[in-house]
Amino acid sequence: MKKAVYPGSFDPITIGHMEILQRSLEVFDEVTILLAVNPNKRSTFSVEERLEMMKEATKDLKGVTVDFCPGLTVDYCHKHGATHLIRGLRAVTDFEYEFQLSAANHFAAPDIDMVFFMAKQENTFISSSTINELHRAGVDISPLVPPIVVEMYKKLSK
Ligand code: COA
Repeated sequence: MKKAVYPGSFDPITIGHMEILQRSLEVFDEVTILLAVNPNKRSTFSVEERLEMMKEATKDLKGVTVDFCPGLTVDYCHKHGATHLIRGLRAVTDFEYEFQLSAANHFAAPDIDMVFFMAKQENTFISSSTINELHRAGVDISPLVPPIVVEMYKKLSK
């Protein structure tokens, strides 16, 4: 049984994340999509709201669990028997950041390896902050996110 963890801020989850998750399920039997903490980011949605969106968006995918981890993702892997961390790459600009993250993770836990999936070309412009910005500007973001995210934006603006 091969277990992996797909960590991120998911603020909110997008079709770009869903693509990476679905492709990772072709390689791993179980994937935990993990809400992890990037201390350098201010979030639009609360932890609870992000988890709700992640759970609803992935509810029909076999082998997927959703969880939250306030600490290191490699510690979470050790605790839950996962051997790999999954990340998506959209452009060369992602590479430097991912290279450093990978090195930090390797320093903390050399037994946990990272696997990278290259995003489909049509998803390379998508990021959570782009979605937030487009939404704030009144653009219909529904083609770029799972339906639950559209619902959550409606609640947010009430
Ligand atoms: N499709 C759509 N968007 C994608 C994407 C894809 N395939 N791949 C990346 N992105 C976007 C995300 O939406 C996000 O956009 P944003 O910056 O506008 O929010 C951005 O790329 C990268 O964010 P994300 O993947 O969520 O990572 P992050 O940089 O916010 O956080 C963590 C990375 C959470 C995994 C990292 O901080 C972490 O591991 N934290 C826990 C502590 C730890 O273990 N640290 C490591 C050792 S120091």
